[in-house]
Amino acid sequence: MLRSSAVRSAVALTVAACLGTAAPASATGPGTGTSGIGDPYYPDAGNPGYDVSHYDLRLTYRPEDDRLDGTAVLTARSTQRLPRFTLDFLLDAQEVRVDGRKAAFTRTGTGGTRKLEVTPAVPPAAGRTFTVAVTYGGTPSEAKDGRPSAWHRTADGAVVADEPSSAPWWYPVNDHPRDKATYDVSVSVPAGLQVVGNGLLVSQRTEGGRTRYHWRSARPQAPYLTTLGIGRFDLTTGTTAGGIPVVTAYGKGLGDRRAAATASVGRTAEIIDWESSLFGPYPFEAAGGFVPDADGYGALETQTRPFYAPAMFADGPFVDVVVHELAHQWFGNSVSVENWRDIWLSEGFATYAQWLWSEKEGTGTARELAAHAYAKHPADDPFWTVPPGDPGAENQFHPAVYQRGAMALQALRERLGDTAFFTVLRQWQTERRHGNGTVQDFVRLTERVSGRPLHDLFATWLFTPARPAAPPSPTAPA
Ligand code: ARG
Ligand code: ZN
Repeated sequence: MLRSSAVRSAVALTVAACLGTAAPASATGPGTGTSGIGDPYYPDAGNPGYDVSHYDLRLTYRPEDDRLDGTAVLTARSTQRLPRFTLDFLLDAQEVRVDGRKAAFTRTGTGGTRKLEVTPAVPPAAGRTFTVAVTYGGTPSEAKDGRPSAWHRTADGAVVADEPSSAPWWYPVNDHPRDKATYDVSVSVPAGLQVVGNGLLVSQRTEGGRTRYHWRSARPQAPYLTTLGIGRFDLTTGTTAGGIPVVTAYGKGLGDRRAAATASVGRTAEIIDWESSLFGPYPFEAAGGFVPDADGYGALETQTRPFYAPAMFADGPFVDVVVHELAHQWFGNSVSVENWRDIWLSEGFATYAQWLWSEKEGTGTARELAAHAYAKHPADDPFWTVPPGDPGAENQFHPAVYQRGAMALQALRERLGDTAFFTVLRQWQTERRHGNGTVQDFVRLTERVSGRPLHDLFATWLFTPARPAAPPSPTAPA
């Protein structure tokens, strides 16, 4: 991302938070529903054997001691008979019911992802819809998983937003972008505090000194894109020109960062309208963003309602980060990675959206920005050793995924011309809306739309651990 002329990039609140790397999948294996979902970078992430369609969370939060209690009801469909199955979860379950009947449960998993293993009284048969109700409690900021908690206490509440994983710190989940679901999230907090969530506010009721907020996210959503901000906020509501409700929330304690935050996140509606003109219809029922009174640096494209750390606005307005997180609503959120190694489909495209914004604003064309980013890294810069098309779990958010990833898109645009290039972007959205895709799927689409073999171009820009011979330019061989 660009600030003045300098390039800065969006990184998450907790820079070090990543799932444990490359531990072998747990022993129980396929057929029992108790190993990971099958992600090459994070073998323990997610769970096989079922597909969640809806999460209904009814929670109570106490900011004074960071205590979260409640019940999660998951509606899922089994893809095999389930004598037992696992969920990604780090708090303490008190009771588990499957289809209303008490189930046995235990904690499993070492080091990497911790699991809640459930043994139903009556195993769901293959291809059945079933419910799992988990009653639980705990202190999310202290829940341990060999990685820092994604749940952060703030001056007057808490915030949770992290990638590639944040959900297991506050609800039981099939934590992989391949298993998307809709969400009802209802949280009771002391009266005077607000709760910001994904989607639209369904209801807000104050009774006996507490207020319960109920948010609903009505389109398929990957678990890591679920967010919660609890604290004192000023909420504003508007709409895009296209009629999408826009809910923004600014922490009451933002102080001197408040004006810059408003000048940036306040442009959400305008940016969504512009991005819709390039990428196709906005994929969700709501939009917005929130800036809680949180420490740390970073931003995350939490679905419909990106999270922005106040530090993003410490040096003045930073519209680029808003352009970036909103572009993710198409690239990353509606069309999600099939595996985490496909992260270029998310970060490369969101970064390229910033270059398109600059082009529109007259502050440098995408071609110029690609040339600038290329020149900034000499051939012996380790930057070029990370291939954006398969960066490795440890380099999932390496600057190469963002910057070289965007250069790859500029190289594609130079090769195809604007008409075919933007057709590819829109067609990717149309064909995979609310779904997933791999880098190879995208390569195949570009070849189908253009009628040209493009293997070499992607090999050069995405998969070679070395600097390409020249920056993307109009003279690139056709
Ligand atoms: N998707 C986020 C963004 O580009 C970055 C998340 C980085 N995550 C991390 N654990 N470093 O806005
Ligand atoms: Zn991003």
